Amino acid sequence: MDETGTVIASGSEEHEAFASPQLGWAEQDPRDWWRACGSAVRKALQSSHLRADEIACVGFSGQMHGAVLLDSADEVVRSAIIWCDQRSEAQSRELEELFGREALIQLTCNPPLTNFTLTKLLWVRETEPKNWARVAHVMLPKDYVRFRLTGERAIDMADASGTLLLDVAHRRWSTEVLSKAGIDPGLLPALHESPQVCGKVSAAGAEATGLRVGTPVVAGAGDQAAGAVGMGIARAGAVSATIGTSGVVFAATDRPALDPQGRLHTFCHAIPGRWHVMGVTQAAGLSLRWFRDRFGVGSGAQADLRHNAARDPYDILAEEASAAPAGSDGAFWAPYLMGERTPHLDPNARAALVGLTASHTRGHIIRAVMEGVAYSLKDTFTIFNEMQIPVTSIRLGGGGARSPLWRQIQADVYAHEVEIVAAEEGAAYGAAILAGVGAGAWNSVDEACDKVVRVASRIAPHQAASKTMQQAYRTYRQIYPALRQVFS
Ligand code: XUL
Repeated sequence: MDETGTVIASGSEEHEAFASPQLGWAEQDPRDWWRACGSAVRKALQSSHLRADEIACVGFSGQMHGAVLLDSADEVVRSAIIWCDQRSEAQSRELEELFGREALIQLTCNPPLTNFTLTKLLWVRETEPKNWARVAHVMLPKDYVRFRLTGERAIDMADASGTLLLDVAHRRWSTEVLSKAGIDPGLLPALHESPQVCGKVSAAGAEATGLRVGTPVVAGAGDQAAGAVGMGIARAGAVSATIGTSGVVFAATDRPALDPQGRLHTFCHAIPGRWHVMGVTQAAGLSLRWFRDRFGVGSGAQADLRHNAARDPYDILAEEASAAPAGSDGAFWAPYLMGERTPHLDPNARAALVGLTASHTRGHIIRAVMEGVAYSLKDTFTIFNEMQIPVTSIRLGGGGARSPLWRQIQADVYAHEVEIVAAEEGAAYGAAILAGVGAGAWNSVDEACDKVVRVASRIAPHQAASKTMQQAYRTYRQIYPALRQVFS
């Protein structure tokens, strides 16, 4: 990105999807992220004919919460246990007993959850003592990439908030949580604010990526906080709804606003002196991807492979779904494929298709999946309302913002105009803004967002459809309580 916020070049490279050695588990090899990163940065440099010495600063973003464990020789001890892994329910309960739920919320602003890093560390300590004995360093996914690029062990406040080891209100590691949980503070990386320069590209990092040795890097942020910066969600009132693999409704706040029930995460923002609250749907984009992977992209006309070969499979699915009416004629999708965080905090929740009749078509079901994900995100808006968190504008992000049908469904379900920003790179764009602030191109993240983030379009709710969806949402809210016993 240059000083005007224009994207000069981009590159991407896939890494392996997660392995699931047991039901509900999710693991990835951190070395695979680093391999893909090196290749993506090289592609970006080559495609633009940029010289490495024209890069003033590098930013970072990545999936949050994952536990990367290194030994004293900096080798990976075991595969990283990533954000959506659900194995640490027993450890969440142990923490609740050790601290008391309210006390832990007071210390860290959040309750214990299977997603958070601390419960994953405790699982390894209890279940794999030999591995735990070798652990000399703990870091989060993007910070492993940083470590390989720079040799520095560092983390930003926003990503550190998702460990359950941070005193979120005071922006420092919680000595009380660390000592009571028996985690050596020496295992943890140094804390920085997101736009702060905290290292330089090393010789090994330069070799792998093509960047110049000595290029400064900033701390960056986890995917949600960086994505919010990339969409200009900086000041109180600005809210985003992002449908990536997970789904997140994110509001910037001036203070650490607590949900006493712990249904929302209260984390530091990637902006010094600011916080955010967010609700998370575990399987948002993942719901549609699951449908695509398990049931394919269509039958009949949609299955004409020659015609469809060049088309995005999601466009084909959306075309099928758009033949079904708002409310999907009473078909509902409860999107709990990976348990659920907001609002249920239930790792045992399971997904369900509810209300089918012989008249329902594939199109109805695809539309129901898209609507169910939007209802699930609306649950967070309902909690915002209870907590009096202001919502003045809603910007859409992730794959869900690229689909015209999913945009309209979201506007109708939220019953609020939604905005689409011009830059589509999301968290990567936010990471580049943070790097630009670190390099001195702008004085602050606020100034950068004001100057570079542009709204490209606005979508208003369709009145009739929105009315149908408000009614349907009330029915959707009854599905989880009715099925909870069945799931467990
Ligand atoms: C946020 C969260 C996801 C992951 C993967 O709490 O778990 O954003 O970082 O996208």
